Amino acid sequence: MDRRKSIQWCPTMQRVGVLALLLSLNYMEVSQGSRHNGHLSPRVIRTKYGTVRGMINSIGVDGMGDAEVFLGLPYAEPPVGNLRLMPPGTPSPWSALRVAQHLGPVCPQRLPDIRNKTEALKTMSQGRYHHLRRLLPYLRNQSEDCLYLNIYSPAGAITSRLHQN
Ligand SMILES: *[C@@H]1O[C@H](CO)[C@@H](O)[C@H](O)[C@H]1NC(C)=O
Ligand SMILES: *[C@@H]1O[C@H](CO)[C@@H](O)[C@H](O)[C@H]1NC(C)=O
Repeated sequence: MDRRKSIQWCPTMQRVGVLALLLSLNYMEVSQGSRHNGHLSPRVIRTKYGTVRGMINSIGVDGMGDAEVFLGLPYAEPPVGNLRLMPPGTPSPWSALRVAQHLGPVCPQRLPDIRNKTEALKTMSQGRYHHLRRLLPYLRNQSEDCLYLNIYSPAGAITSRLHQN
């Protein structure tokens, strides 16, 4: 394999991984407590790669309306198996309607062990401990196949149209 290529690829891949994680974490912050109130969106979105249906979720923040939420949309073909250390490819199209209601896996990472609170608080602040306790359940599903996005879009127009009909 071309050595230069793999060196160039690594920082990009790290950035992609960090971006994916940040997007996932962002979702978790926003949707705490509202994970179970989603119902399917009435509309189907056509994308270059296939059709997708999201959910209508309350954001759970005062003053913010509902959001149309699409979880776990693939944004690139992950370089797994023989393609490991190669650049990611364009996503494979899908033919059936994709219902985007599950988070994709996160990139492989070692999670801090916080089972023993006393022990954990020797190495981190209370704030970080509680933050981690909330996030860890979402970080357990790990895979090299982790190139997924979560998309949030204001759902005001959709819900008011529903109420008019
Ligand atoms: C992990 O994510 C994959 C892909 O979304 C999903 O198929 C699988 O069921 C998930 N596993 C767990 C344990 O949540
Ligand atoms: C947790 O860690 C503390 C301090 O290291 C130790 O004294 C305690 O026995 C541990 N608790 C458990 C349930 O293992």
